[in-house]
Amino acid sequence: MFNAQPKFITSATKLEECPPAGLPEICFAGRSNVGKSSLINTLLNKKNIARTSNVPGKTQQMNYYKLGEECFFVDLPGYGYAKVPKKERERWGKSIRDYLMDRESLKLILHVVDVRHDPSQLDEDFFYWMGMNEKPFAVVLSKADKISRNKVNQAKAKVRRIMKEMNIEVPILPYSASSREGIDEIKKLITE
Ligand code: GTP
Ligand code: MG
Repeated sequence: MFNAQPKFITSATKLEECPPAGLPEICFAGRSNVGKSSLINTLLNKKNIARTSNVPGKTQQMNYYKLGEECFFVDLPGYGYAKVPKKERERWGKSIRDYLMDRESLKLILHVVDVRHDPSQLDEDFFYWMGMNEKPFAVVLSKADKISRNKVNQAKAKVRRIMKEMNIEVPILPYSASSREGIDEIKKLITE
């Protein structure tokens, strides 16, 4: 799957604009600037197929990438970005909720959290909501290169504790775009 030449397909602003459902989809969700687009690039071994930026709010639409004839990767806009006007944010929130709830070909949601920060209230709401709806998801702890291994393990334990309180059990995968640490585990999860 990861050997196929990835192709950008389309940008959608709502569920109705997504390509016809068929191929299995893996989407990348989480706050702005946590590294969702970077994770796609790292998985696909491409520098900039998904556009990244050190300024939050880079990805503004649901961007579809096709891997051969095997699956779609869907890069979602981040949430919690204060500079986006409230109206816009609400519209976005709704589109993404519709997508996550109703897209039948969605097979895996990778929820990205910056390993340096505790999950925000929005992250926790997201975990809860995914758990309640029995959605297939996993947590990726990004930017693991920025802190010590010890701290990474603490962050992982913390997320695991939060999940446990909600009775949710999902993979929690630390990873770094710069060192590529953890990328094989994420690939394995996707392939499975
Ligand atoms: P939005 O599209 O705004 O929601 O952001 P995003 O989640 O797609 O984040 P993006 O991939 O654009 O990355 C944000 C910034 O974090 C960029 O400057 C990246 O280079 C940086 N970054 C992403 N992943 C890592 C990582 O694993 N390690 C380090 N050191 N930097 C990273
Ligand atoms: Mg992005």
